[in-house]
Amino acid sequence: SDRKYDPYRPSSHVFDLITRDAKILCQELDPMPEEETRKLALLQRLSDIANEVFGQAEVLPFGSSGNGLALANADMDVCVFLNSQQMAEEVSPVEFVERIGDRLEKDNEFENILQLKRARVPIVKLNHINGIACDIGYQNDLAIWNTRLLRAYCRVDTRVRDVVVVIKKWAKCRKINNPYTGSLSSYAYVLLVIHVLQRQGVLPNLQTIVSGNGKIPYWDCQGFNRYFFEDIPNLARYWQQTPEAATQTVGELLYEFFRYFASEFRYASHVVSIRSGGLLTKESKEWTKDFTQPHPQHPQPQAPADDAPQSEEQMQADTRPIVKNRYLFCIEDPFELNHNIGRPVDRYSLFTIRGEFMRAAKILSKNGDGAITRLCYERE
Ligand code: GTP
Ligand code: MG
Repeated sequence: SDRKYDPYRPSSHVFDLITRDAKILCQELDPMPEEETRKLALLQRLSDIANEVFGQAEVLPFGSSGNGLALANADMDVCVFLNSQQMAEEVSPVEFVERIGDRLEKDNEFENILQLKRARVPIVKLNHINGIACDIGYQNDLAIWNTRLLRAYCRVDTRVRDVVVVIKKWAKCRKINNPYTGSLSSYAYVLLVIHVLQRQGVLPNLQTIVSGNGKIPYWDCQGFNRYFFEDIPNLARYWQQTPEAATQTVGELLYEFFRYFASEFRYASHVVSIRSGGLLTKESKEWTKDFTQPHPQHPQPQAPADDAPQSEEQMQADTRPIVKNRYLFCIEDPFELNHNIGRPVDRYSLFTIRGEFMRAAKILSKNGDGAITRLCYERE
C-alpha cells in the first residue's frame, strides 16, 4: 500500500476493538421509534400553526432529522416555506421570526421561545412540552438540499453514519460543537468526515458524477448549483470503491479522521472542499483576509458586532446584524461556495479544537479497549 508511514498507527487488533465499541455506541445513540413519532407530531403541529399565521405554508424537516444522522434526543430543525410567491416576498426573515414567535408564545405547549433575529439565518428556537427542542427557519432551500446531499452520502456506505455518530458524540462531550462559542456546528463535522472518507476512497464526489453525457448540469438554487448524483442504488454503474477502501474498518476510519486533522491538514493554507473532492487553497478562493460584512437581509448600516453573540438578550435586542467572517479553519459549503462553514472559529477556539484532534488521535493509537469511552470523556 502507498499509505504514508505513521509511527503511531495502531495494530489491526486495536482497530477491531475500536470498531466493536464504536458500533455499540452507534446502537445506543440510535433514536427510538417513539422519538420519531413525537417529532412527526410536532412537525404536524408546527405546520398547522404556520398555515394559521401565513395561509398556505409547508414545514419541512432538515438537518439531522432529515439526513439520517440524528443522535437520540437530537434537536429538530425545520424550515417553513410559504406557498404563495407574493407572500414569500413580502415577509422578510426577521418579520417571519416575529410573527411565528409571537403566535407560539400564545400556546402553553411551547416553552423557552427565543426569536433570534440577529443570526446570519434568523430562526425561532423553542422547546416543546413533549421534550423536543426545535429550531424553526424560513425559506431556506439550500438547507433542504444540503440535507439531501448528506443523506445521499450516508446511503453510499453504512460506515458513514458510524463514523459521524462517534464524531458528533465526541464533539459534544468535548464541548467543541457550538458555533456561538467559536467551535464548529455538527454540519461542519459531517463535512469534515465526508472529506476524509473521500480521501480514503470510501466515498465518491457525488457533485461530479453524472449519468448520461458526462456534463455537470446547472440546477439553480438561490444562485448556486444544487446538482448532485442522488440515484444511489445505481451508483455502482458510475463509481466503485477500491478493494482497500471497501475493507477499512470503522476504527481505522476514525483514527484516520483524527490523525489527518491533528497532523496532516494544513490549516494555514488549505480549504476542505467536498464539492471538489479534496483540498483547495485559501488563495484560490480569496479566503485570506477576515472581513466584516453587513447582513445580506439587513440593508441598514450599524456598528460592528460579532458573529458570536454574548447573551440571548443581546441577540434579541439588536435586529441589524453584522457578520464576522474568519478564515482560520476553512470548510467550503458544498453549494454556497462563498460560505466558510468554519467561520466562527477564532485563533483561541482553533487551538482548542486542534488540541482535541491530537488528544483523540493519541487515545485511539494507544489501547483499543475502552478507547471510545475515553474519547468521549466529558470535559469540565
Ligand atoms: P445535530 O443538531 O447536532 O444533530 O446536527 P445536525 O445534523 O442537525 O446539524 P446542525 O444542527 O449543525 O445543522 C443543521 C442543518 O443546518 C444542516 O444540515 C444544514 O442544512 C444547516 N446548516 C447548519 N450550519 C450551517 C451553515 O453554517 N451554513 C449553512 N448553509 N447551513 C448550515
Ligand atoms: Mg440540528
